[in-house]
Amino acid sequence: MKTAERSPLLLGIDLGTSRTMVLSNRGARAMVRSVVGYPKDIIGVKLMHQAHIIGEEALKRQSYLNIHYPLEDGVLKEANDQAAESAKLLIQHVINLADPQPGDRIYGVLGVPARASMFNKNQLLKITQELLDLSMVVSEPFMAAYEIDQLNNAIMIDIGAGTTDICAMKGSIPSGDEQVTVLKAGNYIDLVLENLIRDNYPEVQMTNNLARKIKEQYGFVGAPTEEVIVNVRIAGKPGTCNLTREVRTACETVVSEIVEHLQSLIKVFDPEDQEDALRNIYLTGGGAHIRGLDKMICQQMHQYGEVLVRSVPDPDFCGGAGALKLAMELPPQYWEQVGQVSRPVK
Ligand SMILES: Nc1ncnc2c1ncn2[C@@H]1O[C@H](COP(=O)(O)OP(=O)(O)OP(=O)(O)O)[C@@H](O)[C@H]1O
Ligand SMILES: [Mg+2]
Repeated sequence: MKTAERSPLLLGIDLGTSRTMVLSNRGARAMVRSVVGYPKDIIGVKLMHQAHIIGEEALKRQSYLNIHYPLEDGVLKEANDQAAESAKLLIQHVINLADPQPGDRIYGVLGVPARASMFNKNQLLKITQELLDLSMVVSEPFMAAYEIDQLNNAIMIDIGAGTTDICAMKGSIPSGDEQVTVLKAGNYIDLVLENLIRDNYPEVQMTNNLARKIKEQYGFVGAPTEEVIVNVRIAGKPGTCNLTREVRTACETVVSEIVEHLQSLIKVFDPEDQEDALRNIYLTGGGAHIRGLDKMICQQMHQYGEVLVRSVPDPDFCGGAGALKLAMELPPQYWEQVGQVSRPVK
């Protein structure tokens, strides 16, 4: 008896500088740090028992690995073989996390930053061509907006690690003047926080990674609702430190530029659509978790009438979920009309 052909495995992949997410139509949902580590020398090779390590584990073993962030600018860092090789390993890794079965056809929609150039997208498609049976590259804010059904008269603010992307949604893929990229995002906050703690508490041992963890646990802007008391090491000994002021100051460094760009971006909407757009402002990306950010942006936009800023329901996975939703809703023959597509060379 002839068995019916299995339907393809569909993937939504969000490629970020710091984290890559994958979701599948069969229920997979995973997050990986966008890092590939290669052993520095023969000792590393012995310790690792493998040629490379991907994700958080690579960061934990930094001491004997050369660390690569293949998507540093959200897509391929530069046109070198090493970046392309690391990107390929990372993408293969996230495909594997979706548990493809032998004989599966795999179709993937990949979200890349709005600012990715045609060149970057083509480079990425060259890689996915070798890994997927069909792939489409689509702009990231469009994916997040697609997930929450806000493709028209809405503004997406995606606060990632390397950049904050602010994008006006006007019913189609945003064009150049409908989006802005600000280089202040999560990494910048970490750096400011690390330096503030070093300056104010020189005896506390602080690293960039520790500052990031403190921000992720306690990050807030505006008036504090509780004190941020953190366990730290002081000259090797355990202790506690009140970092309320430092966390607030560091997190607030991203607000003024977001507001400035919001104010100039609102002008790209027709005047009769501006009220709607101002009531549909969404925060996404890891930075959307910072408490009080929605309220503070609203307050600073008060002269614009009614302004509503909300976080999307699942800021970490919103882009990836939108990519999967598109893969599931759009029949493959239409993919070419929405994004750039590649298929394996026969
Ligand atoms: N709970 C949290 N509170 C504050 N910041 C957080 C939280 N969780 C994650 N972040 C920060 O969000 C950033 C990562 O977000 P995201 O995964 O959206 O970035 P990315 O897509 O990899 O980066 P980019 O968009 O710049 O390419 C990091 O700076 C991380 O520290
Ligand atoms: Mg991102």
